[in-house]
Amino acid sequence: MSTTTRPATPPADLKPIAPVDLAAERAAVGPALEEAVLRVLRSGQYILGPEVERLEKDFAALHGVAHGIGVANGTDAIVIALRSACVQPGDHVVTSPFTFFASAGAIAWMGAKPVLADVELDTALLDPKKAEAAIDSKTTGILPVHLYGQMADMKAFRALADKKKLALVEDAAQSHGASRDGVSCGQLGDACAFSFYPTKNLGACGEGGMILTKSEHVAARARRVREHGSPVRYTHAELGTNSRLQGIQAAVLNVKLPFLAAWNERRRAIAARYDAAFKGCAEVVPLARRPNTVHVYHQYTVRLRGPVGRDAVIEALKPWKIAVAVHYPSPVHLQEAARPWGYGPGDFPNAETLAREVACLPVHPFLSDADVDRVAERLMAAARGNS
Ligand SMILES: Cc1ncc(COP(=O)(O)O)c(C=O)c1O
Repeated sequence: MSTTTRPATPPADLKPIAPVDLAAERAAVGPALEEAVLRVLRSGQYILGPEVERLEKDFAALHGVAHGIGVANGTDAIVIALRSACVQPGDHVVTSPFTFFASAGAIAWMGAKPVLADVELDTALLDPKKAEAAIDSKTTGILPVHLYGQMADMKAFRALADKKKLALVEDAAQSHGASRDGVSCGQLGDACAFSFYPTKNLGACGEGGMILTKSEHVAARARRVREHGSPVRYTHAELGTNSRLQGIQAAVLNVKLPFLAAWNERRRAIAARYDAAFKGCAEVVPLARRPNTVHVYHQYTVRLRGPVGRDAVIEALKPWKIAVAVHYPSPVHLQEAARPWGYGPGDFPNAETLAREVACLPVHPFLSDADVDRVAERLMAAARGNS
């Protein structure tokens, strides 16, 4: 792409390109969404109920897993999944330092200690070898994060969990419908936690989450824990919490679920277009996709490695009405809230490098090819100092 004919100032009528476009998503789904919300409103079945049961069944079936348990949000899904897979307060759970804080925060919130192990520099996924090295005598669980829509190496983590007799819980908040080496997220873990935060590949109109598990025992426990440990009304077998998925959110998700495969496919097509544009560009390096992976591109992430720093590149795109997000500008171990876990700068070099370099480009399914080309062209120009 030539940079010589580009105008020095952006035209005034440029269409903004943003990381998400919830209005376009609503329009694509059509009137069914509003009808579903009204149906639940009129039914009076606001908490759990038939819409939640249908979503649990269909979302589990989509991933080839027997049981789905709808909960209030993705953070609760992790907490309840860990609890149900027998992680106890005081235990150690190995996870990633490069993720949304909730992955590690949920471990600490349920009273266990997050033990961090570095990620692979080229994928930003938890490195199974480093995770193994972080296991100690108190470790009872591993929480790989399927970051940006790509699954961590679940075959390696399953083998590791079996060898060390650990619970294996997946953080699949960003990977609805992803698979790797022929298995979907949810199939190899003891439990798998999803978020339906509105901007996710499958998003509610509010908060929502789901646990998938193939284990009857884990499912029964999760169903109990989401309702104050109560298998039967006013009988409390163990401590739990109130974390039930709401009927209106489930109804919204039931309307959107049939669109998920096509939306994920469009995300992959956009990613392929970006990949082609950035081929051979030293300043803009996409994260790697592993072989045999069905990536669902919750984010399309590049490392900005040119002489212009990442934040300056993002600034330079603003006049061109292109918004690029940074997930995540600071790794987990350098957060104030993580101080009690005893880590410091330099402990996880790959996570720290990624936090400095990553930029997540718009990849939602309602972008046109022309939008994608505009982002790619402007980004390369800015990264080369030609904006
Ligand atoms: C990787 C990851 N884990 C956990 C969560 C927590 O999900 P929620 O915001 O639904 O609590 C999120 C989402 O925001 C996430 O991206």
